[in-house]
Amino acid sequence: MKTEILLVDDDSYTRRLFEGLLRSGETALQTAADVAHARRAFHESDFNLVILDQRLPDGSGLDLFAEMHAERPQQMAILITGFADVRDAMRAVRDGLFDYLTKPFTNLDELRTVIDRALEMDRAYREIVALRETLGTFAGGPIIVSRSAVMERVLAQARQAAPLDTKVLIEGESGTGKEVIAKQIHALSRRAKGPLMEINCGALSESLLEASLFGYEKGAFTGAGKTTPGYFEEADGGTLLLDEITDMSPKLQASLLRVLQEHTFTRLGSTAQRSSDFRLICATNRSLEAEVKAGTFRTDLFYRINVVAIRLPPLRERPEDIMPLALLFLEHFRSKFGKSVGPFGADAIASMETAPWTGNVRELRNAVERAVVINGGGPITLADLGMPGGLARSPIPVARPLPYREAREGFEREYFKNLLQLAGGNISEAARLAGLARQNFYNHIEPLGLVSGS
Ligand SMILES: Nc1ncnc2c1ncn2[C@@H]1O[C@H](COP(=O)(O)OP(=O)(O)OP(=O)(O)O)[C@@H](O)[C@H]1O
Ligand SMILES: [Mg+2]
Repeated sequence: MKTEILLVDDDSYTRRLFEGLLRSGETALQTAADVAHARRAFHESDFNLVILDQRLPDGSGLDLFAEMHAERPQQMAILITGFADVRDAMRAVRDGLFDYLTKPFTNLDELRTVIDRALEMDRAYREIVALRETLGTFAGGPIIVSRSAVMERVLAQARQAAPLDTKVLIEGESGTGKEVIAKQIHALSRRAKGPLMEINCGALSESLLEASLFGYEKGAFTGAGKTTPGYFEEADGGTLLLDEITDMSPKLQASLLRVLQEHTFTRLGSTAQRSSDFRLICATNRSLEAEVKAGTFRTDLFYRINVVAIRLPPLRERPEDIMPLALLFLEHFRSKFGKSVGPFGADAIASMETAPWTGNVRELRNAVERAVVINGGGPITLADLGMPGGLARSPIPVARPLPYREAREGFEREYFKNLLQLAGGNISEAARLAGLARQNFYNHIEPLGLVSGS
């Protein structure tokens, strides 16, 4: 699908500049020279991005943005503004404007980058909306972001394995989404209506884990106050997820192997053979193969549970997933805490995209949760996210002074454009206001491309 951009600017020079910058096979650029036309275009199509000039012949770009934002809160918009109005633009960023660009444009790469970022955010928002719609149909399945090719492959594997009822081994660093994938497999299997029982083998002592898995009769051990069925039984007709399987002691590994071979087991303190129909999914944040080599995990058990293996890549190996995940979490915590914060500020986006995220998706989720709690309104900053390097972006690019010619051109364009606006497009009147002869005035504005736009 083509990317559709609406440019609202009465200045033909700016229009030409953006046409040159954006015209390509994938982008359709529509232009409007005033608020009235922009409004009509906005109602007639669905734009991926709106770029608005601040000063328009029949109103302000900011007011127009506010109108669009009220109607379509996720509309990506960029404001083009002069130095004089930069404060208003900064304020608008607090109210949902994606970013602003100051005129005269001195750095076309920066322009391109801001536009690309806005389009990227738009795509991510649209994906999440689409995801919610498709997932609505499999009740219970978690929302899984998979923009990257590697995650797409993981999901394809999960979808393939789900209906087959085979054992699945999910490997991946902590926080990469192993549980999410296990839930997805369960939700897409014929056991979806059955229970999904999860137990973390690393969180319990050997005897407690054994009692939890096998169940026990009253009095089987000190503290066994009443007869309790174990997870094997509870997972009957559903799925059993053994998390951190590498933490299972050798003794329990042997017992588990027996259950898998014989399909029967007994509760602690009982000799009655019981059976249960559960599908086993195991997860680990270590390499099970390495544990086998090191002799800490039984080879025979490894082959039993490793029928289909799914490896979840760490977040740093799939940077395309970062912003879509961040947006999903932002939406989630916004509604959970009932706070209308965001969007993410430009600095925050840049840092999030390149951070190492050693705690993977869970770390990102926690950072966004923290940001939503801390943020006092407006865009989410690095400080809100608890990320280092929270230097505010300087609103006016003063680092590189403009060459005189460019600075003069920028000034002249703004100056003459304002004059023309003031004079209602009447060149003679504008020349009079400037204290210049009409022809002289014309000679100034003609090379600036202000004649056709007036
Ligand atoms: N692709 C994804 N899309 C949406 N949410 C995700 C995704 N991956 C992970 N999450 C979320 O990130 C958090 C961590 O995921 P999960 O608990 O599945 O990780 P894990 O690999 O099981 O971690 P651990 O090894 O620490 O148990 C969860 O809140 C989960 O909902
Ligand atoms: Mg987990």
